[in-house]
Amino acid sequence: MAFGDYQLEIYLQGLSGIVPSLPMSFEDLEARAQSAMSPSLWSYVAGGAGDERTQRVNVTAFERWGVMPRMFVGAKERDLSVDLFGLTLPSPVFMAPIGVIGLCAQDGHGDLAAARAAARTGVPMVVSTLTEDPLEDIAAEFGDTPGFFQLYTPTDRDMAASLVSRAEAAGYKGIVVTLDTWVPGWRPRDLSTSNFPQLRGKCLSNYTSDPVFRAALAQSPEENPQATVLQWVSWFGNSLSWDDLPWLRSLTTLPLLVKGICHPDDARRAIDGGVDGIYCSNHGGRQANGGLPAIDCLPGVVEAANGVPVLFDSGVRSGADIVKALALGATAVGIGRPYAYGMALAGTDGVVHVLRSLLAEADLIMGIDGYRSLADLTPDVLRPVT
Ligand SMILES: Cc1cc2nc3c(=O)[nH]c(=O)nc-3n(C[C@H](O)[C@H](O)[C@H](O)COP(=O)(O)O)c2cc1C
Repeated sequence: MAFGDYQLEIYLQGLSGIVPSLPMSFEDLEARAQSAMSPSLWSYVAGGAGDERTQRVNVTAFERWGVMPRMFVGAKERDLSVDLFGLTLPSPVFMAPIGVIGLCAQDGHGDLAAARAAARTGVPMVVSTLTEDPLEDIAAEFGDTPGFFQLYTPTDRDMAASLVSRAEAAGYKGIVVTLDTWVPGWRPRDLSTSNFPQLRGKCLSNYTSDPVFRAALAQSPEENPQATVLQWVSWFGNSLSWDDLPWLRSLTTLPLLVKGICHPDDARRAIDGGVDGIYCSNHGGRQANGGLPAIDCLPGVVEAANGVPVLFDSGVRSGADIVKALALGATAVGIGRPYAYGMALAGTDGVVHVLRSLLAEADLIMGIDGYRSLADLTPDVLRPVT
């Protein structure tokens, strides 16, 4: 079934008087998610760094590009599949790592729910280090869809190695090391309510289930939750330097990706250091305000990557955005906040709806505009909107 057929499914259900219970526009999704979440969770998920200008321009920068339609192409059949690290994925879309996705589900098990959405849609999930359920339990829900593990590199090297080897043993297909978050960015919305979920003991299950982490505690996490959080604080923030890259590389034979790359020189140097993929992102504007829209950084990173896969996220809100990011050279496009909102509204079903809607729109745009496959989506497909 083509991704675009989701609209047919919805229209046909309408003939039996069934209208979609889940939102069909991003604005509606966002508004309804806000009502479904507690104020503190909402501010953590929706908020960003500083006055959130970078977060906003991540989104609006997409408006500066328009897709040029081509006619008489007969693009009735589209192929959105992509090869990534030897895997064939049905679409070039993935779920970006979201540390509190566990809390976004009404039952507090959103990591498992997102993994089930991956199984149902074929859209891979990049599982955060910061989850409510351990990485092994999440992987058990993937079905046939591959999953990736995102590493916040602990300062303790044995703990880092332990997380990576657990991810390997659990069947993850790649390790994504996030570089831009060894310290949280200045986030006024969260600061104004002194709200930082991990300090309240949330989303630490990959630590509390880890033998190396547990061995470093005088009392078990169950006996002394406060000491557990303090131990987490002392091990969390590793401000890596280039000297650490050979060690990171040595931790795994799985594909290694680095997330947070925006400068072409950083992409080049990381590839020289042996990484298999670059992940261009500014963390959705949650880390450093005053930055560039991430999509503006993508073409330079793609050029520097010289054929090495480039994953992209930050600001993707529609199928049109997905098409534009692909045309600007992304190998695969990450969805962030939108799936967290779907999660808050309806768990796995909500995430599946969000992902299917985004894919349907992307697929239909490609069909209508005459682009049959991802290979057809080259930068000259886009024109600046004046
Ligand atoms: C609530 C929240 C939690 C996040 N947690 C993580 C994380 O644990 N690891 C990580 O690498 N990125 C994390 N990110 C960043 C996302 O992976 C992604 O870069 C970002 O959401 C893209 O921006 P967008 O959601 O505005 O499109 C988080 C983002 C949000 C919104």
